[in-house]
Amino acid sequence: MKEGQPSATARRVAIRRAAHQLLDKPKVFDDPLALRIIGHESASALQNGSDQSESTRLAPYLRAFMAARSRYAEDELALAVERGVRQYVILGAGFDTFAYRNPYPEGALRVFEVDYPATQAWKRALLEEVDIPLPADLTFAPVDFEKRTLADGLRDAGFDPSLSAFFSWLGVTMYLTAEGLMTTLRFIASAPIGSEVVFDYAISPSLMSPAQRPIFDEMAKRVAAEGEPWKTFFDPAELMKELRAIGFGHVEDMGSEEINARYFKDRIDGLRVGSLARIMSARV
Ligand SMILES: C[S@@+](CC[C@H](N)C(=O)[O-])C[C@H]1O[C@@H](n2cnc3c(N)ncnc32)[C@H](O)[C@@H]1O
Repeated sequence: MKEGQPSATARRVAIRRAAHQLLDKPKVFDDPLALRIIGHESASALQNGSDQSESTRLAPYLRAFMAARSRYAEDELALAVERGVRQYVILGAGFDTFAYRNPYPEGALRVFEVDYPATQAWKRALLEEVDIPLPADLTFAPVDFEKRTLADGLRDAGFDPSLSAFFSWLGVTMYLTAEGLMTTLRFIASAPIGSEVVFDYAISPSLMSPAQRPIFDEMAKRVAAEGEPWKTFFDPAELMKELRAIGFGHVEDMGSEEINARYFKDRIDGLRVGSLARIMSARV
């Protein structure tokens, strides 16, 4: 992150989710607020075709991955709520809109949006600009994962650590140091039984094929130019082992084959995810 600056990649991801609402049928992730949250100007640019960012070769794969990870997180959240979870923590929330379309009755699911302080301030200004009201069940927790522990940030926000919680952490782990990331995962692993985290992560460049490597290099160059370089990558098998070692009892890792089979089967537009990133769910 650029010190004190909001996340440019958060905005890009939000625009891709908005584009998914307009371009892809059927939608994998239905978000009725996705266009509104990006602001009038960006929404009109997508609608009138002056935003050309979705016409690149890689764009449909990235858009598909962003739709799939949000869909999976909310599918898993629904299962967590069924088993009694009443707290949802959105880590590195960016322009995630769940809190503003929370389908559960008031008081049934408290939502905590945790984010880099400058990104969160930017989102709050945008919410006001586009007239999206702040729901009673939402609490903001400004936290820089590299400078402050999640435990501290959540305690100040009124999170109850004695109750189970569901955490999503989408599009964030690759931007953190391995140390900052593991501190957060250890905190979640120590949460009460039934707690869960869903996150996506980038695979180690050493595991990539010669065909994957130039795609990875192109994407890495782009985020680094925005001041948000990727820092942490994983070998899926080692990550699963590590998650079990720090206390997660149930771990599920999904690569492109599993994600495409689950969410992109039988489409006529060919939309599907690529294979550079994966989605993990780990339950206490
Ligand atoms: C690519 S965006 C993803 C946003 C959101 N999860 C989504 O899927 O739309 C990355 C997010 O990570 C947050 N982030 C990056 N580094 C962070 C840090 N050190 N502490 C807290 N948040 C951080 C950014 O502020 C941004 O909201």
